[in-house]
Amino acid sequence: MQTQSKKHPHKDYINNDYTSFVHKVKKKTGIDLSMYKEAQMKRRLRSFFEKKEFSSFEDFFYNGINKDEDVLAEFLERMTINVSEFLRNPKRWEILTDVILPRLLKDRSKLKVWSAACSTGEEPYTLSIILDQYSGRKSSSILATDIDEAILLRAKTGFYTEKALKELSKDMLLHYFIKETSGYRVKDTLRNGIRFKKHNLLADMFETGFDLIVCRNVLIYFTEEAKHNIYKEFNKALNVGGVLFVGSTEQIFNPARYGFEAEDTFFYKKINKVE
Ligand SMILES: C[S@@+](CC[C@H](N)C(=O)[O-])C[C@H]1O[C@@H](n2cnc3c(N)ncnc32)[C@H](O)[C@@H]1O
Repeated sequence: MQTQSKKHPHKDYINNDYTSFVHKVKKKTGIDLSMYKEAQMKRRLRSFFEKKEFSSFEDFFYNGINKDEDVLAEFLERMTINVSEFLRNPKRWEILTDVILPRLLKDRSKLKVWSAACSTGEEPYTLSIILDQYSGRKSSSILATDIDEAILLRAKTGFYTEKALKELSKDMLLHYFIKETSGYRVKDTLRNGIRFKKHNLLADMFETGFDLIVCRNVLIYFTEEAKHNIYKEFNKALNVGGVLFVGSTEQIFNPARYGFEAEDTFFYKKINKVE
C-alpha cells in the first residue's frame, strides 16, 4: 500500500514543520497553539511569516521568534485578530443594560466583572461606562485581561481614533473622554477603576467570585476541546446567578452541560456548579 508521505511528501513536510513549530512555541512562551483551530492558525501565521520573508515555520521560529523580540511581539499580535470597538454589537449591550444588569444589581450593589481577552481595551471601558451610567460604577470592580502584553499597554493608554468610538453617543464622548488632536483619550476616572492583567485563557488559573464575565470574539479561534475546558472554568469562576456574555458567533451548544442556561441570546446564566 502506498503511504501518505509517498503520495504527498510536500504536504507531510508542511504538517511536520507546523507540529514541531507548535512544540517549540509552547516551550518558549507557554502558548499552546494546538488549542487553536489549526487550519485557520496555519493560514494566518504563514501569511505573516511569508511577508517577513521567512521560508518555513522552522525558519520563522529559529530566525524570528527565538531571536528577535519584535518578531515575537508581532507574532503574538497576529495570532488572532485584535480588532475591537466600543459597544461592539450595540443591541447586545442594550440587553446587558436593560435585562442582565437590573437582575444582577437586584441582589447586590457591587459587581465583580471580568473582560477576558479584552484586546486594546474598548470592551472593559464600555463596561465601565455602562456601569457608571447605570449605578455609579465606583462600587463595582473590573478585571481586564489578555494574553498579549503589548496590547494591554495600549489598553491602559486608552487612546482611540474616532472609528473605534463610532457607537458612542456625543454625551458619552464628552463625559468620559478628552479630545486630542488625532483622537480621544479616556479620562483617568474611567481608567483607574480597571485592573489590567496578562492572562492566558488556555493555561492560567481563573480568579473566582465574578458576577459577570464578558468573553467575546476569542473563543471562535479555539478547538472544541479548548472551549469545553474554558466553559467549565468560567462556570467555576462565576457566582451562581452570574452571567457569561459571549460574542455574536459564539453561542454555546448545550449550555446545561456546563451548568448554564440561556438568559438571552449570547448571555448564559450560571444555574449550578459543574465538576
Ligand atoms: C478579536 S479580539 C477580542 C476583543 C474584544 N473581546 C471584542 O470582542 O471586541 C481577540 C483577543 O483575544 C486575545 N487572545 C488570543 N488568545 C488568547 C488566550 N489564549 N488567552 C487570552 N487572550 C487571548 C488576543 O490577544 C486578542 O486581543
